[in-house]
Amino acid sequence: MAALSSGVEMSMREVVTVALGERSYPIVIGAGVLDECGERLAAVCRPGRCALVTNPVVARLYAEQLKESLMGSGFDPIQIEIADGERYKTLDSVSHIYDVLLEAKLDRKAPLLALGGGVIGDLTGFAAATYLRGVPFVQVPTTLLAQVDSSVGGKTGVNHPLGKNLIGAFHQPVLVLSDSATLRTLPRRELVAGLVEVIKYGVILDAALFARIEEDLDALLALDERVLGAVIRRCCELKAEVVGADEREADYRAILNFGHTLGHGIESETQYSRYLHGEAVSIGMSFAAHFSASRGYCPPAVADRVVRLLRRLGAPTEVPTDLQARSLQAALAGDKKAAGGQVKFVFMEGLGRTRFEMVSAREIAERAVAGAAEH
Ligand SMILES: NC(=O)c1ccc[n+]([C@@H]2O[C@H](COP(=O)([O-])OP(=O)(O)OC[C@H]3O[C@@H](n4cnc5c(N)ncnc54)[C@H](O)[C@@H]3O)[C@@H](O)[C@H]2O)c1
Ligand SMILES: [Zn+2]
Repeated sequence: MAALSSGVEMSMREVVTVALGERSYPIVIGAGVLDECGERLAAVCRPGRCALVTNPVVARLYAEQLKESLMGSGFDPIQIEIADGERYKTLDSVSHIYDVLLEAKLDRKAPLLALGGGVIGDLTGFAAATYLRGVPFVQVPTTLLAQVDSSVGGKTGVNHPLGKNLIGAFHQPVLVLSDSATLRTLPRRELVAGLVEVIKYGVILDAALFARIEEDLDALLALDERVLGAVIRRCCELKAEVVGADEREADYRAILNFGHTLGHGIESETQYSRYLHGEAVSIGMSFAAHFSASRGYCPPAVADRVVRLLRRLGAPTEVPTDLQARSLQAALAGDKKAAGGQVKFVFMEGLGRTRFEMVSAREIAERAVAGAAEH
């Protein structure tokens, strides 16, 4: 188990220290931490040249603020922009980053900073893992999903035409700065999708977190700083604990896939265009909750509580009626985590507890499509 320490620093900073021996690093959370980037980075890297990777949307909003902070502490950043969107999470984009870094002659001491959501984080992390066999990496996540999920755990990578996240590496950051004030410019739909992952942590690991979200959902949606910082911190602690216990293996970490088996299937069956990832996961979590109740693993009232919270959030909870069982089954069986038509399915056993069972892709697909037809 990863030793974790966390607490509230002066000026309302929530800090989670991810303890991975020599590779330990802090996650600093709070409104305005962007302005502390230079100072905090100087504590772990000698000031000098560095590269900021972002996209045009986020650059327009936050790049100047971040660069000002970096320059204030003696860093000399170059800026690299990758077009916005999941379809640019490719080796081509990483290759473009290499080109700019080589041309600018950045050496292996120069850190790479990712300013943006999970797409920028994943591809910048992969560039940092591989450029000159690895350079320091800093995450400055600006979506809720990136702040509670993709910036923690060290997974980096890009998509391949044959599938998502098929090319990648583990590369831990030296520092993560989650500025909750950046969420104020995030489209509401992205915020809701991120909150689905927050609810997931409550369901699989922490009943008290789940209850807190039920109670404070409106404050979260209103981006109330006090609640938001504490909730982001708790999610980071939970994810860090899970990945620390199991940094590279898929075993225990697989509980994070709650709702994702069907969620991924739905994303792929709807060409990654109808739903945001978190929305598809919300449908998958609702399905997994009912499935758990129908197998007698969890009381139906608890499963209903999960679905009710997702509905209150405004996330979709119903499987779309136009899915075909056959095609969905093929998508589920083709997932990189499936073997021989069997999928390791994460069930809930009440709030904060899970169990795994091997389930056939066919059973999941048929159940999901039959459930959709009932509505
Ligand atoms: N590495 C991991 O462990 C891990 C875990 C989960 C997800 N992921 C990856 O994360 C990616 C999804 O990340 P995401 O949901 O953050 O999507 P994203 O990076 O595409 O960001 C969503 C949208 O919000 C915009 N945006 C970002 N910050 C903003 C802000 N503060 N204000 C306004 N707009 C802003 C982006 O430009 C983009 O258009 C996927 O590629 C997924 O595979 C990785
Ligand atoms: Zn997810």
